[in-house]
Amino acid sequence: MATILNDVSRTFSEFLLVPRLTQKKHIPDNVSLKAPITRFKKGETPRLSLNIPFSAASMQSVSGESMAIALAKRGAAAFVFCSQSIEAQAEMIRNVKNYKAGFVQSDSNVTPSSPLAHAIEISKKTGHSTVAVTEDGTPNGRFLGILTDKDYWPKEDNLAIPVSEYMTPLEKVFFAESGITLHDANELLRKYRKDCLPVLTKDGLLESLVFRKDFIAHTQHPLELIDDEKRLIAAAGINTHDYHDRVPALVDAGVDVFTIDSSDGFSEYQAECALWIRERYGDEVVIGGGNVVSAEGFRYLAETAQLDFVKVGIGGGSICITREQKGIGRGQASALMDVVAERDKYFEETGIYVPICSDGGLSNDTQIIVALAMGADFVMMGRYFAMTDESPTPKTSIRGQMYKPYWGEGSNRARNWQRYSEGGASDGKMKFEEGVDAYVPIAGSVNDVLDVTLAKVTATMCNMGSLDLREFNEKAILTRISEQSFVEGGTSNVVTFENHKEDR
Ligand code: IMP
Repeated sequence: MATILNDVSRTFSEFLLVPRLTQKKHIPDNVSLKAPITRFKKGETPRLSLNIPFSAASMQSVSGESMAIALAKRGAAAFVFCSQSIEAQAEMIRNVKNYKAGFVQSDSNVTPSSPLAHAIEISKKTGHSTVAVTEDGTPNGRFLGILTDKDYWPKEDNLAIPVSEYMTPLEKVFFAESGITLHDANELLRKYRKDCLPVLTKDGLLESLVFRKDFIAHTQHPLELIDDEKRLIAAAGINTHDYHDRVPALVDAGVDVFTIDSSDGFSEYQAECALWIRERYGDEVVIGGGNVVSAEGFRYLAETAQLDFVKVGIGGGSICITREQKGIGRGQASALMDVVAERDKYFEETGIYVPICSDGGLSNDTQIIVALAMGADFVMMGRYFAMTDESPTPKTSIRGQMYKPYWGEGSNRARNWQRYSEGGASDGKMKFEEGVDAYVPIAGSVNDVLDVTLAKVTATMCNMGSLDLREFNEKAILTRISEQSFVEGGTSNVVTFENHKEDR
């Protein structure tokens, strides 16, 4: 006879936190959001921790190299999507590892004969106001000058006139020679009161640009996630089909963290894949996987597959239709609570702590907070990051509002059949969709959205008398809410004039 679980499947929005004593030391500045991402023995330090407990989903419409760089700079990780060729994914990982904070490749470039209109168009597309002028219009061509939005008036100036008439020419540009350290480059920017410093090779080719605003951002975000050589930590999704080829290529490119990306990870395929990687690379790389929604699923991945971290969640994703297509899944809160209990039991029995990531279905900041309070070590989000400037999709105007496309990895658009067929039906064809193709409103930069969310998370942790995530989980008292108290939680008996609900 089938086993019928007694409790219904619950979601995060059914819970509220009951505040604990806040002492004077409980201020957001004193709160640490460090979260382990590797298994570790009691008393030992994890091999790697995130500095903030967030990760971006391994999805085409979320995690490209810009997202990976932006999140590593904030102390989190974006898992570069694996639904692309091995070469293309390895190239993205290589670019993340080669990213030198401070020295950026110019992404807005024109030739001197390009009309001003063309430079303005490029500037709008990239969102960057500094355009490099090179002989052939490439990022590393012979450098001839620089054009910024201070050099022209888009409405008043003649847009057909060549850029050479408006740019600051090479002889008047203050530049540095390649080999300069970032520290010295920033010093020059400060000394000469410049916003941008081009770095040129001895032959006059443009190597990179250093911006004052990046220096300022860097000092504001000291939590960068970096390796021993001060390179950003790079993370990648992989599948259980082509890992024999994909994993070595990604390791060559410098990857640090893997997640085996599967909608249902409670499988022998996943254990086989994890053990294969572990055998070859030992502890050199971090191996996470999932997804599971039960205690037994967690134990299998922790014990048999020896994973570093386990992802929890089936069917809760904002673009996910797995539950209605296949009838599998579980309310995210119920799944998380069961897995957390099993993680703690496993820790008690073995002295080994295996971190948990709550993946999918987090539709506002409160739900992120509840997930962390319930014991997720970190969370993974798709929609949240798809809405930011750094996701790889273009901004699109629909009926006067700006959106970005966001589609599931199980949609026809992504055709990520590897994520949705574990081993067996590996004919490379999708027989039904498990995800939809949608749009999300734009929300600003990763920094903008994280600043708000982190402020809320740390404020709540102070309400709960906690200075770190472990303490937050240990001290958390959660209460289930009735439909009536849910209504009470919104505004009541007042008139508001907002015509849309805040959805972040
Ligand atoms: P979100 O943060 O609610 O948008 O959920 C993102 C998560 O949904 C991802 O991390 C995946 O676990 C999951 N996911 C991604 N694509 C699909 C899909 O096509 N169907 C079902 N789940 C998906």
